[in-house]
Amino acid sequence: MSAKTQVVETGVVAPPAKPSIGARIAAHFKRWWWAHLVAFVAVVLVIVLPVIYVAYPKIAQHDVNASSLKITTMKISNPTPESFRLEQTQVIGSDSKYHPRIYAFDADVSLGGAAAPFTTVRVPEVKSQDGTEVNVSQMVTLSDLGVFGGYAKAVMLSKEVGLNIYGRPDLKEGVLPTTTVTYNKTVTMKGLNRLKGFDVTEFHILLEPENGRNMNGTVLIPNPTVMTIEMGNLTLDLSIRGQPVGQTFLENLVLKPGNNSVSMTSTVDQVAIIKMLTSKTNVWTTGVVPFDITGNSSVYNGKELPYFTKALSANNLTVNLDVFKALTKIGIDL
Ligand SMILES: *[C@@H]1O[C@H](CO)[C@@H](O)[C@H](O)[C@H]1NC(C)=O
Ligand SMILES: *[C@@H]1O[C@H](CO)[C@@H](O)[C@H](O)[C@H]1NC(C)=O
Ligand SMILES: *[C@@H]1O[C@H](CO)[C@@H](O)[C@H](O)[C@H]1NC(C)=O
Ligand SMILES: *[C@@H]1O[C@H](CO)[C@@H](O)[C@H](O)[C@H]1NC(C)=O
Ligand SMILES: *[C@@H]1O[C@H](CO)[C@@H](O)[C@H](O)[C@H]1NC(C)=O
Ligand SMILES: *[C@@H]1O[C@H](CO)[C@@H](O)[C@H](O)[C@H]1NC(C)=O
Ligand SMILES: *[C@@H]1O[C@H](CO)[C@@H](O)[C@H](O)[C@H]1NC(C)=O
Ligand SMILES: *[C@@H]1O[C@H](CO)[C@@H](O)[C@H](O)[C@H]1NC(C)=O
Repeated sequence: MSAKTQVVETGVVAPPAKPSIGARIAAHFKRWWWAHLVAFVAVVLVIVLPVIYVAYPKIAQHDVNASSLKITTMKISNPTPESFRLEQTQVIGSDSKYHPRIYAFDADVSLGGAAAPFTTVRVPEVKSQDGTEVNVSQMVTLSDLGVFGGYAKAVMLSKEVGLNIYGRPDLKEGVLPTTTVTYNKTVTMKGLNRLKGFDVTEFHILLEPENGRNMNGTVLIPNPTVMTIEMGNLTLDLSIRGQPVGQTFLENLVLKPGNNSVSMTSTVDQVAIIKMLTSKTNVWTTGVVPFDITGNSSVYNGKELPYFTKALSANNLTVNLDVFKALTKIGIDL
């Protein structure tokens, strides 16, 4: 039997005066403060740790996913068969209220949807904020020439091309710890769209060949992209209905955004062309002849650039040239 039951049974002792609630709470805390402290710390950790180590990385990843990337300029220069200088301005788009620091990281760059990257670029450290500009300027080594050739070909032939940028940068927001996020964005960029609008705007037959070239003129090369591409010395093959009739040369071609007006020189088989136009089976009775143009090679500092060659040879261009008019100018009437 307990002592308390005994007391009630005897009815002798009056119940002791209860201490005030405040006093009891004070006494309780005085005795159990350490337990409360442990409990408080535990609760704080249970709430804060997941916020820091689970929610914060998730929010950071979410914001990285939600951000956009725009490439406003891109310049390819000093090309060699396995490298080139890349200068690129990227603009980050983000409506997040957080503006974390994203540390410099290595990004794999590939054609959107392609299995393998063609190079890795170093992206500098930035503070993520809407409109932040990121400048990349470095020598790029092509890790896979075939893959880059595929990218160059896609740029040549397509209206739009996806450029995928993939990396795992470290990110830091304020006093929060550093967390690693996955950056995986495919940027849609305009392509050269088969050089649609390519034209020979004027040409002259040279009676006295210069350096073996018997024709010169000006070509118009539209470039709807934001890319400046140093392509070197281009050789283009000319043919009429499948019959080779010569080559055209564009020297030190630097394709800039917009319309490019470029000098050309050509070596054409004038005899063969005049033969065609004077034969009984001549179908171009007005003297306007469709010349098919296909890329033969791109050479820079004496070295062929296989990726540009591949892109150029994948494209077929046709220009209609008024041969009668050109011949009349040099005093030949057919
Ligand atoms: C971020 O995007 C990837 C796929 O692109 C997805 O797997 C991941 O769940 C997303 N993360 C967040 C936090 O939204
Ligand atoms: C990036 O480069 C452009 C042009 O070269 C320049 O105007 C701009 O200030 C640069 N931005 C940064 C953040 O370096
Ligand atoms: C990047 O995202 C795309 C589409 O969401 C996916 O197909 C691709 O596998 C991802 N890249 C990497 C390296 O995980
Ligand atoms: C073509 O050659 C002629 C003669 O050398 C020259 O006068 C003319 O300027 C050249 N035209 C072009 C577009 O190069
Ligand atoms: C380029 O030239 C074409 C044909 O001359 C013209 O229609 C077009 O507007 C020009 N584009 C630019 C960006 O100047
Ligand atoms: C490229 O031009 C060279 C001559 O300069 C020629 O021998 C070769 O057949 C051409 N290649 C193609 C694919 O037309
Ligand atoms: C293009 O060819 C010319 C004449 O052969 C040469 O002087 C020039 O250096 C070449 N350009 C390049 C970029 O290789
Ligand atoms: C270019 O022409 C060649 C031969 O006529 C053909 O095999 C090739 O598919 C054409 N390429 C394009 C991109 O139209």
